[in-house]
Parts: sequence; structure tokens; C-alpha cells
Amino acid sequence: MARALLEALNLQVHYGGIAAVKGISFVVEEGEMVCLIGANGAGKTSTLKALARMIPSRGEIHYDRERIEALPGHALIARGLALVPEGRGVFARLTVVENLMMGAYHREDSREISSDLEKIYGLLPRLKERRTQVAGTLSGGEQQMLAIGRALMGRPRLLLLDEPSMGLAPLMVEKVFEVVRKVAAEGVTILLVEQNARLALEVCSRGYVMESGAITLADSSAALLADPRVRAAYLGE
Ligand SMILES: Nc1ncnc2c1ncn2[C@@H]1O[C@H](COP(=O)(O)OP(=O)(O)O)[C@@H](O)[C@H]1O
Ligand SMILES: [Mg+2]
Repeated sequence: MARALLEALNLQVHYGGIAAVKGISFVVEEGEMVCLIGANGAGKTSTLKALARMIPSRGEIHYDRERIEALPGHALIARGLALVPEGRGVFARLTVVENLMMGAYHREDSREISSDLEKIYGLLPRLKERRTQVAGTLSGGEQQMLAIGRALMGRPRLLLLDEPSMGLAPLMVEKVFEVVRKVAAEGVTILLVEQNARLALEVCSRGYVMESGAITLADSSAALLADPRVRAAYLGE
């Protein structure tokens, strides 16, 4: 039976007096690929940052049967919760391989780190070709691949992906999502945040719709794709 790997209960994020996330609740089961879709400014990034404990929040966050609100972000990385941030966040002046190794900084199993690096190069051959190139000179799509690869170096159980398609040409979006699908197929649980609702609903089995800091719809991807409200607001129909 599926069990919750991540659960948020009444999660709230405030910036000064402004409420960006207004008490949302959702669950991600182990092995699932779930999306959170919504327009620019809906509160998606704030939600992911709160889950990764990069910003303060109120409400409960349960991860792997543990309450994690009081834990620092690095403790979560060690527990297998990794965020691939909006805008990639690669270290522009470091090389590809140096960026990848940053994802394993908390690990000491050097032999397994080397084998994971080879595995990631197998999944992302472009990164292998460019392993000595500084990350700042990579294309947007290559930087997105690198950000995903860096997160994989931490051996995540749960990957939080913030707008991996942003700013990429359609062909590159396809390639990035092919990688995301492969990662999911290996058993990594994924919470995907996207403004590109159609794409997100096509790869995920379930989705939540976020509007002005609140979750307004939650359903299977098939139901959301067929929902007239979703079609009008997010699918341009
Ligand atoms: N650091 C910040 N300080 C103040 N307001 C912020 C900050 N980050 C985000 N916001 C505001 O919070 C709301 C939600 O933003 P965000 O979580 O980035 O949404 P999304 O990722 O869905 O576009 C927006 O109104 C945004 O302007
Ligand atoms: Mg965002």
C-alpha cells in the first residue's frame, strides 16, 4: 500500500505582512510523481522553499514519518530531500564535475560517489562531454540538466523540481522531461512545480492547482486536463 513520503498540513508562508502561501495541505505518496501548477506569483516557489526548509513557514511538514519544520535544510539533504531550484542555481564559475560533486558534499562513501557520478554521466551524456567546462557557459538546458544531476548526487528519495522547463526551447524541454521521467522510473518520488500545466499534467499522475496562495483543485491529471476551469485558465482553451 502506498504511504505518504511527504505531507504538508496548513502550510503558510509570509513575507513581512504578505501571505504568499495561505494554509495549504497536500500529500505526496512514496514513488509518485505529482505536480503543483499555477500562474506566476501563485506561491509555488515559496511552497517548495518552505518544504526544503530554506525559508520559514507555519504549519506542519511531515517527511518520511518525521516532523521536519525544525530541521535545517542541510539535514534534509542528508535524509534524501533535494530541491532543484527555480533558475537552476548552478555555480557559474565551477566546472560541471565540480558542480556535481557539490551535490555529494555530505557523503563520505567515495567509491559509491564515483559510481554515482558515472551513472549520472550515463543518464546525462552531455554533462560528461562538458565535465571540465565552467557551468556559466552551458546553455540553459544543459544548466537544468546539471542542476538535476547535482541533486541526484545526493541520492534523493524525494526530488522537488521548480519549473525545470522555464526559459527552454521546446526541444530542450522534451529532453529535460525525458530525464525527469527516467529518474522517476528509478523510484525517486517527484514533486514537480510548473507554470506549463499541460506538460506537467502529461508527465504526472496527479496534480494540485494553486491560485493566490491556496490550493483550489486537486485531482488526477486526466481529470484536471479535462476540467473546463483548468482548460480555460491554464491550457489556453
Ligand atoms: N522574498 C520575497 N519577498 C517578498 N515577497 C515575495 C518574496 N518571494 C516571493 N514573494 C511574493 O510571494 C508571492 C508568491 O511568489 P512565488 O512563491 O515565487 O510564486 P510562484 O513560484 O508561483 O511564481 C508573490 O506575490 C511574490 O511576489
Ligand atoms: Mg516560482
